[in-house]
Amino acid sequence: MSNEMPHPAVQIDGVTKSFGGSVALNPIWLKIQRGEFLTLLGPSGCGKTTLLNLIAGFLEADAGELFIHRDLVTQVPPHQREIGIVFQNYALFPHMTVAQNVAYGLRTRRVAKAEIATRVQEALALVKLEDFADRRPKQLSGGQQQRVALARALVIRPRVLLLDEPFSALDRNLRTAMQVELREIQMKLGLTTVFVTHDQNEALSMSDRIAVMSRGEIRQIGAPADIYARPENLFVSTFVGDANLFSARILARTGPVAEVEVGPARLRIAPCAADLPAFGPATLVVRPEHCRLTEAGTANAIPATVALSVYQGSHAELHLDCPAAEGGRMMLRVPAAEAMAPGTAVGIALSETGPSVFPPAADGRAVA
Ligand SMILES: Nc1ncnc2c1ncn2[C@@H]1O[C@H](COP(=O)(O)OP(=O)(O)OP(=O)(O)O)[C@@H](O)[C@H]1O
Ligand SMILES: [Mg+2]
Repeated sequence: MSNEMPHPAVQIDGVTKSFGGSVALNPIWLKIQRGEFLTLLGPSGCGKTTLLNLIAGFLEADAGELFIHRDLVTQVPPHQREIGIVFQNYALFPHMTVAQNVAYGLRTRRVAKAEIATRVQEALALVKLEDFADRRPKQLSGGQQQRVALARALVIRPRVLLLDEPFSALDRNLRTAMQVELREIQMKLGLTTVFVTHDQNEALSMSDRIAVMSRGEIRQIGAPADIYARPENLFVSTFVGDANLFSARILARTGPVAEVEVGPARLRIAPCAADLPAFGPATLVVRPEHCRLTEAGTANAIPATVALSVYQGSHAELHLDCPAAEGGRMMLRVPAAEAMAPGTAVGIALSETGPSVFPPAADGRAVA
């Protein structure tokens, strides 16, 4: 027997796509492992749906090759790719019952009647809708309709499940509940899943890996904690997570350690990117949790003034006027009881291990 590595569930080799001369996807190279939950995250128009539709076969690539398991599927029509798909807008057949909707993919595949009944039952149980089999879609809530769509995708036992912003029409609580439920089902079935969203929290909470996209490119791919804590570029650092930006100056760089001047403060930031210039202007990205409040005038702290304290239940957001910050503003979180009155002068001490430092990219930071 062969002892090769198993083929990835999905392999995308240099796939490109343009629409009428405008590039939607630059060459994309991506391997998705079996059983992996991969999220495509990025702003509107960055190419997420285009990439999903290429995997599904609804769009044809201009160049490159696409494999599902070991099969080259670049020229294979969607219904022969053995994939399940869930869209944002449910797309259920209104004149069919829930059970008939779920059975649809099995009937078109000419599965025997008795087996259809069993598998529809199983799929409905998986999404907790056993008792709704005879209802019509319009007699269901949005969350229930999306469960039917999920059951309909799962019932064919797809090799890959593709979901395009499936929960974006749901209110926040329901959305969170559906996220947990989908992840549980996906893990239970060991189902390879590609999930599209522009919601960073959704991506961070559900994924094994996140591919952060902008302008038709994958800008970084990695586990959620890597994407959040070790962003590789300014775009990723600002698109994922809250970020305070400071204009800074690199005074020296030795290997992965950069000595940085920001306002009156000097910091040694590590690790920093190996290709960071050894001196010159830079942008320092500081998450709220990398900032600590100190008294005004503390050595090595950045001066700021409380502008507004926003009560958030478990904590308060302090918005501060801060001349050293880009836009003159920054934000950090404090326990709700420690909120401070507007006008209070404070110092901001920055952690040396959390922040990231990047060249002051002219390539448009948070712009899609
Ligand atoms: N059928 C099409 N014809 C022409 N242009 C298209 C077509 N589909 C997508 N595009 C363009 O390709 C780019 C990527 O679109 P895509 O739908 O993949 O973005 P997206 O990341 O899914 O955005 P959103 O978050 O808004 O859904 C956009 O500039 C879009 O206008
Ligand atoms: Mg889209």
